[in-house]
Amino acid sequence: MKLRGEKISMLTAYDFSMATILDDAGIDILLVGDSASNVMAGHETTLPITLDQMIYHASSVIRAVKRSLVVVDLPFGSYQGNSKEALNSAIRIMKEAGAHSIKMEGGEEIIDSVKRIISAGVPVMGHLGLTPQSIYKFGTYTVRAKEEEEAEILVRNAHLLQEAGCFAIVLEKIPAQLGKRVSEEIKIPIIGIGAGMYVDGQVLVMHDMLGINKEFSPRFLRRYLNLYDQILGATKQYIEDVKSKDFPNENEQY
Ligand code: KIV
Repeated sequence: MKLRGEKISMLTAYDFSMATILDDAGIDILLVGDSASNVMAGHETTLPITLDQMIYHASSVIRAVKRSLVVVDLPFGSYQGNSKEALNSAIRIMKEAGAHSIKMEGGEEIIDSVKRIISAGVPVMGHLGLTPQSIYKFGTYTVRAKEEEEAEILVRNAHLLQEAGCFAIVLEKIPAQLGKRVSEEIKIPIIGIGAGMYVDGQVLVMHDMLGINKEFSPRFLRRYLNLYDQILGATKQYIEDVKSKDFPNENEQY
């Protein structure tokens, strides 16, 4: 697709029903993101979600999918220790969830684990720029790699991930011109979230693009629906119908 100049579409999914719809719509890649920790479980960060919980979400998505590629995040704490631990975590996701591939945050510091996982036959997607599992190191969710030094480190890490055998890289919240440079220099597809228009594909968190969340409004987010208000309205209507004895009516009973 990158060679053809066809942009790659990617969204997150965490459950069977939503994954069915996104797959039917023709999405190229479904990411079982550790953002499940935020949007599904209500945690402030992605750090608390466990490998078992990721496997639960991933297996629900896998059961729904007929055509999309499914990528599953290795959660915080399941791969940073050493490459053997990383490989075991990746194998559990592939074996127990039936995933197609995994994603890992980081560059040089995780490169041994990336190589070991790929050599075991597991496709790996990299993730650079804003890496939410390191939020306590960064301190904020602001745009990364605005300064030249950090930008150069990011480019170097993208090369390292490509050389290690990654099949794609997510770039999160970086300047558009840096996204352009990486996409031009690197042969594997670059999927952006807040990385501008020049990268090879785009990913958004499903809850954000469907407007299920109200509070989260970064500049890079385009909302395609306002499901929060629609679900709120439908639920209020249902409550009113039950209370007023309008529901169920004669045709809605046995
Ligand atoms: O967990 C996630 O949803 C992600 C995307 C933001 C790329 O990693």
